[in-house]
Amino acid sequence: MAERIEAATAGPINLADYEALAAERLEPGVLDYYAGGAGDERTLRDNVDAFARRHLRPRVLVDVSEVSTSTTVLGAEISLPVLVAPTALQRLAHPDGEPGMARAAAAAGTIFTLSTLATSRPAEVAWHAPPAPRWFQLYAFRDTAVTRALCDEAVEHGFDAVVLTVDAPRAGRRERDLRSGFAVPPEVDMPAVRAALGAGACPTPAEFFSLVDTSLSWRALEELADDLPLPVVVKGIQTAQDAALACDHGAAAVVVSNHGGRQLDGVAASLDVLPEVVDAVGGRVEVLIDGGVRRGTDVAVALALGARAVLIGRPPLWGLAAAGEAGARHVLELLREELRLALLLLGCPSPAHVTRGHVS
Ligand code: FNR
Ligand code: LAC
Repeated sequence: MAERIEAATAGPINLADYEALAAERLEPGVLDYYAGGAGDERTLRDNVDAFARRHLRPRVLVDVSEVSTSTTVLGAEISLPVLVAPTALQRLAHPDGEPGMARAAAAAGTIFTLSTLATSRPAEVAWHAPPAPRWFQLYAFRDTAVTRALCDEAVEHGFDAVVLTVDAPRAGRRERDLRSGFAVPPEVDMPAVRAALGAGACPTPAEFFSLVDTSLSWRALEELADDLPLPVVVKGIQTAQDAALACDHGAAAVVVSNHGGRQLDGVAASLDVLPEVVDAVGGRVEVLIDGGVRRGTDVAVALALGARAVLIGRPPLWGLAAAGEAGARHVLELLREELRLALLLLGCPSPAHVTRGHVS
């Protein structure tokens, strides 16, 4: 009996357990910054709820003696169709920070996306993490010299793609941060922001977003795609019309995303937008999605609706907050375990076998 009780008090066994651990460990202002959404947080909640509105349709008597979760994204082999989304200020979660998150993603065999608003610069991540497919997320600052320097550093240090975030010309109305007065502590470095604002800056989210160029147009995407020796992924697409425009102007892939509900409250859940984007893109580029993915079954639903892969934002932060690099890696391993079982029970030996017919 004692053994069973012992087993019952085992460590975290799903992403919700890691969310609870992070809530225990994070300073309240940081927890609110990570957890928070915009406005009334309707989209934040709907991102998760949208998955509950879908139903998986398993097919039986399919040989599932061998199940693989592997796939490719932009030609890069990854061991599961789950990438680590760019999230700012990772050293506020744990001293391992972005280098630790990059090591966790590399160890799990997937892609880490470094934020422009990171607490580590691209070079530092490259120095402290093993060679692995890695993407750099770009906020195009008004200060084009800073933007250029960031891209050059990412290219120089072996990043494989640039992710242009297009849904955040300014911060959404983050009321948790307004209440807490959240600002970046002076002891926490944000290399890109301090390059633009000067050393010692302790910006609030609104202040670091004020650096972004609000005049960007589709021409800017075209110029970036022409100038960079890397594929450009466009993150923050929320309509069929913009998905088509992204393809027309040089996007190598698009991410259906509403920034985890942190930008314009009241927009549709990412999952509900995914089908129209997949139809509009018509196979011209790969379509990824983020927002509300918390289970391996959620990954399966996204695949069935046409996503090549998903990105997760908050869950790896929870893992990092709970146990540094090891926690972030365990979050990815838990999702892989859940996805493998979901594929097996769906009658799908791999992500490539998942079709539109596997979801209603
Ligand atoms: C983000 N996100 C984000 N996106 C981006 O392009 N650049 C960034 O610097 C950040 N920073 C950031 C910080 C925090 C604390 C969160 C929660 C999110 C958005 C992120 O990449 C992703 O779109 C969402 O987090 C996905 O939703 P889930 O997985 O968090 O539900
Ligand atoms: C955020 C920014 C950094 O969502 O993208 O906080």
